[in-house]
Amino acid sequence: MDTAAKCFAVHATAGRHQRFRNTQRTAPVNHLRVPLNPGFSLLCILASLVVNLPSISAAEPTPAQKLVWNDGILVVAHRGNSSEAPENTLPSFQSALDAKADLVELDYFHSADGALVVIHDEILDRTTNAEDVLGKPQLLVGDQSLADLQKLDAGSWFDDKFIGTKLPTLIQALDLIQSRSVTLIERKAGDAKALVKLLEEKKLLDQVVVQAFDWDFVAECRKLSPRLALCTLSGKPANDDQVRAAAATGADVIVWNHEKIGRPQIELIHRLGKKAWVYTVDEAPRAKALIADGIDGIITNKPAEMMKLRNQRPGARSQ
Ligand code: G3P
Ligand code: CA
Repeated sequence: MDTAAKCFAVHATAGRHQRFRNTQRTAPVNHLRVPLNPGFSLLCILASLVVNLPSISAAEPTPAQKLVWNDGILVVAHRGNSSEAPENTLPSFQSALDAKADLVELDYFHSADGALVVIHDEILDRTTNAEDVLGKPQLLVGDQSLADLQKLDAGSWFDDKFIGTKLPTLIQALDLIQSRSVTLIERKAGDAKALVKLLEEKKLLDQVVVQAFDWDFVAECRKLSPRLALCTLSGKPANDDQVRAAAATGADVIVWNHEKIGRPQIELIHRLGKKAWVYTVDEAPRAKALIADGIDGIITNKPAEMMKLRNQRPGARSQ
């Protein structure tokens, strides 16, 4: 068993022990010490098998979980290679793949007609020409049809060489990124069922990582799928209670704004059996300090630089 699998097994076993304790607490107690009805006993055994089935399958890490539980430092391209190409577009994702980032992060919203569309802001204006094309400023992604969203230019604000770049759907982005890397999908809006259904249909539930600032969403994803690799996000000043609450969602990774977390919380995350990642780190000295503090993953707008830094570290190995 490799190290990632061992780490995952410890993690999964902790979950199993928790479930076992719960089972003991709620099991029928035979205070009178008389023989139980054999039919009832058989029913209890069958019920216990059913209760424990998910934990048996959870013990085998998925490809995404193996990546997340890797011993090395992971580099995540934030909104693609967003220092080189317009964020959250196919050229940005392609550039992140060329930089060989371990994971490629993106953000999505739902369109008015239920398509999952890749964009960071709720309002269209910063990264598209929606005001020109749709005739009004301050339009919301969630109020537009997919057809209207696909009329927009999402590249010219960044550089003329990206004129004509469209907002990708989540499916288009996954088709590109998963060919050579792993997608870190950040949900900005929408329900967990819609995302899990899409990932099931694409047969990617075990191949991607999902994150959200909304921890109820993360906990809901965990309920829907024990196999999905999950992260909680936070930009608040870190404290022990928050770290424990993040861990209680069932996430594999606790992701924090790098300016709001320190070594004590990173150590607590590790004691809780989780991985600790930070966003958004673009400066090499800061990245080195965070690595010295024990961080496991760096989300960056400059994946090529961070990959170089990561690969040049003493003892670095190919991941
Ligand atoms: O991946 C972490 C980071 O993306 C969270 O912040 O605002 O860039 O989505 P934001
Ligand atoms: Ca994001």
